[in-house]
Amino acid sequence: MSKKKVIIDCDPGIDDSLAIMLALKSPEIEVMAITIVCGNSPVSMGFSNAKKVLKFMNRLDIPIYIGEPSPIKKKYVNALDTHGEDGLGESFLPEVDGFENSMDAVSYMQEALKKEKCSVIALGPMTNLARLIERDIDAFLSIDELVSMGGSFKSHGNCSPVAEYNYWCDPDAAALVYKTVYDNHSLIHMVGLDVTRKIVLTPTLLEYMNRLNPEVGDFVKRITKFYFDFHWEWEHIIGCVINDPLAVAYYLDREVCSGFSSFVQIETLGISEGQSVVDSMNFYKKEANAKVLNEADCERFWTMFISRLTGTSPDKLDILKEII
Ligand code: BDR
Ligand code: CA
Repeated sequence: MSKKKVIIDCDPGIDDSLAIMLALKSPEIEVMAITIVCGNSPVSMGFSNAKKVLKFMNRLDIPIYIGEPSPIKKKYVNALDTHGEDGLGESFLPEVDGFENSMDAVSYMQEALKKEKCSVIALGPMTNLARLIERDIDAFLSIDELVSMGGSFKSHGNCSPVAEYNYWCDPDAAALVYKTVYDNHSLIHMVGLDVTRKIVLTPTLLEYMNRLNPEVGDFVKRITKFYFDFHWEWEHIIGCVINDPLAVAYYLDREVCSGFSSFVQIETLGISEGQSVVDSMNFYKKEANAKVLNEADCERFWTMFISRLTGTSPDKLDILKEII
């Protein structure tokens, strides 16, 4: 079976890094490139962190392209309070020199998408995608499938009462992407906080990963410790919500999340900026431009995530059901 080609557009980021690891351990797909956007970390830091992850995974052959350093209109606000001062949980892993591409992320996407069938898994703010629309809408419309970690339907926001970080960071970009998808009768898969909040990496799950594969377990522990502390302080959770790997898992296996099709618009102004307004009751009588995921099969996700990252056959995950 030929592998599906994907570009991972991200802002690593602790959970972006876990998502990249999952993608690289998934035989169904070929990661064509990693494109970096400003979000959790500024793009130079995101680039460094992507290299650190690729080095750990022994996959420095995958090209990384640096993208937009600031949102379209809004002043850039990073999320280093959540991801640590190095953007990777204050793991302070050694820097990996080199590997900079002269081409920028948007140019790379433009070229790659026009050349071959390719999907995009967007794990950060949508600034690169919005710039692609502005520059070459046909390239954007050639995206095979577009999966976005972002937004929320009924779950509360994580940046304001109503907004999730990726859409809040660059609401104008997210609004343009959803509008363009709508105008062109296309569809975006919205893997928002309703489903990602169900994916909590607990100390027990992490210890299980460590028992199955100490090298991987140790790496995941190093980059998530800060995230655990942050979640305890702000959400009173023992564990951490790992949003981005769920978008990759859903791309790989549609049974991981379920939801409904709806018209979605992203608000750009005032106290609702970044809110994903989901017309689930069809008030606006508009064609659906999004598949909104609101249910997650946690066991299915964890089976995929833990088995692939640790290199353990799913049928050998004997105690998983008891510890989810
Ligand atoms: C999203 O924002 C970032 O902090 C995470 O990497 C994820 O993509 C969750 O709101
Ligand atoms: Ca992210």
